[in-house]
Amino acid sequence: MTNLWAGRFDKKIDKLLEEFNASINFDIELYKYDIEGSIAHATMLAEQGLITKDESKQLIEKLKDIKERIAKGEIKFTTENEDIHMAVESVLIKELGDVGRKIHTARSRNDQVILDTRMYTKEQIMIIKNLLMELENVILKKAEETKELLMPGFTHLQHAQPVTIGFHLMAYFQMFKRDIERFMDSYKRTDVCPLGACALAGTTLPINRKRTAELLNFQSVSENAMDTVSDRDFVMEFLSCASICMSHLSRFSDEFILWNSQEFGFVDIDDAYCTGSSIMPQKKNPDIPELIRGKTGRVYGSLITLLTVVKGLPLAFNKDFQEDKEALFDTVKTLKNCILIFSKMLENTTFKHEKIMSHMTKGFLNATDIAENFVLQGIPFRKAHELVGKMVKYCEQKDFQLEQLSEQDLKVIDPLLSKALLPDLTLEHGVMRRNIIGGTAPEEVARQIKVGREFLNSIGI
Ligand code: ARG
Repeated sequence: MTNLWAGRFDKKIDKLLEEFNASINFDIELYKYDIEGSIAHATMLAEQGLITKDESKQLIEKLKDIKERIAKGEIKFTTENEDIHMAVESVLIKELGDVGRKIHTARSRNDQVILDTRMYTKEQIMIIKNLLMELENVILKKAEETKELLMPGFTHLQHAQPVTIGFHLMAYFQMFKRDIERFMDSYKRTDVCPLGACALAGTTLPINRKRTAELLNFQSVSENAMDTVSDRDFVMEFLSCASICMSHLSRFSDEFILWNSQEFGFVDIDDAYCTGSSIMPQKKNPDIPELIRGKTGRVYGSLITLLTVVKGLPLAFNKDFQEDKEALFDTVKTLKNCILIFSKMLENTTFKHEKIMSHMTKGFLNATDIAENFVLQGIPFRKAHELVGKMVKYCEQKDFQLEQLSEQDLKVIDPLLSKALLPDLTLEHGVMRRNIIGGTAPEEVARQIKVGREFLNSIGI
């Protein structure tokens, strides 16, 4: 078989180079979009009088037929076909002769590849949005169930202040909400039709770019042909959104791994989501969150791949761009799997509240509450902080908790101190009182859940 571009060549491409150059083994993923793009192109070409109505009909019928045959595995391509664009065109030519030779009128693979990639990315963004919404629903459900259950809040992985499990979970709700918004925002910049930019400068032929954009459901038509074929911003943006989203999944996974340890014992992950050890019979390992945490690396890697590929490229098209596809496809697959599997794992996890409560006596979780109560009695905060610091030091020496300090102890610590200055020291009380917007009080978490639910309803599931 000779290549479609072989007119000016005397020799056939070396086999090794053919394989090195080809992208068909991975851009076959784009066949559906490539064919839909060609159908719209053939429709427009006929409307503009550049091909006849009959030729357009033949092309469209054949394109539909090729799509079905590829889906059924009846057509298999090899590296001789180079890429999906030439692969489809070569079947058209083989089966339709000169009519097939007309499809590439006023078109280049340079605008074609970016069309396919944009259509693919648009579709994937919507799938990812739906998966994230399902994850958000699981988080809301779990947060609702646990909005009154206390757990320690941490900074520096040290006990800091009491919070509720629901509150902690709702922090992740916010992260994934921003992810949804980020993906949807990137959708706007992806939803631009490149077809008609051709190789780099448009065409002398009287095509109608707006018509193909309309047929393919694009919001707008790209402004500058040279930018159009050189632009991979939307892929970089997608990979950035995916990387940030993976960072959230990775942090959540990391907490699951910690919470699942003997040291914490905060959660019980359902058996179906854990694995055993080949040697240690007692083990129940959190492989799933570990894998999600690990896979974050390859998604970041893909982002760095593309940023690096693009950084030194002169305008307009360069073959370097072909490197965007594996990075994009691998990220899509990885991200979708991770969101789905994480959702299922979260849904099938129980929080071991009694065990969590047994941790709460450590770390003076109510220390800040005492300082804040001193403020209410007119003591400047910095002074209050110092006084509570002394109380903590005293307790550490005596192995007390703050609520065990007697009137006498307080006087020894500082003559200013007295029991009357202390608030209700129960942790429940501390949580209830954090009832400002963004606080951890159950009532406030209920409000956050309600607003979260409204958000999901507003973007439709
Ligand atoms: N396979 C190429 C890619 O993935 C398609 C564009 C090729 N264009 C060209 N002029 N070589 O980017």
